[in-house]
Amino acid sequence: MKMIVAYIRHEAFEPIRSELLNLGFPSLSVAEVKGSGRQKGITEKYRGAELTNYLRPKLKVECVVDDGDVQTIVDSILTHARTGAVGDGKVFIVPVEESYRIRTGESGSETLQAHAVEDLPPS
Ligand SMILES: Nc1ncnc2c1ncn2[C@@H]1O[C@H](COP(=O)(O)OP(=O)(O)OP(=O)(O)O)[C@@H](O)[C@H]1O
Ligand SMILES: [Mg+2]
Repeated sequence: MKMIVAYIRHEAFEPIRSELLNLGFPSLSVAEVKGSGRQKGITEKYRGAELTNYLRPKLKVECVVDDGDVQTIVDSILTHARTGAVGDGKVFIVPVEESYRIRTGESGSETLQAHAVEDLPPS
């Protein structure tokens, strides 16, 4: 198992989320974070004073999947998060030792399977 950790622009999230859902990966976590990349800060004038903002708002997306699914997820992120401008973000792949579904006590890969469509509660 691997955790894919992506730092992306907010606008990139919806197309990634909807593609991953369609591909059978509905489970993920998102957090609003601030970060800095390799650029120097962006300097703006505020009431005559120059202020440099080193931190930019980003979304952090975490998604744990089986090793064989990593490339699918990464490809989706790269496709939808790339604008070509600096600040498009980064993707990291982190090894995951174990996983438990709390409700059932299942562990390992079983915890990562999406529901079959017929198992879903009526909407
Ligand atoms: N090495 C890193 N460790 C943790 N977070 C990072 C790292 N690099 C980038 N990030 C996160 O990703 C965000 C976007 O990074 P960014 O796209 O600016 O990277 P970059 O290396 O400067 O590339 P680019 O030249 O395309 O801007 C950062 O604001 C930060 O939240
Ligand atoms: Mg940058």
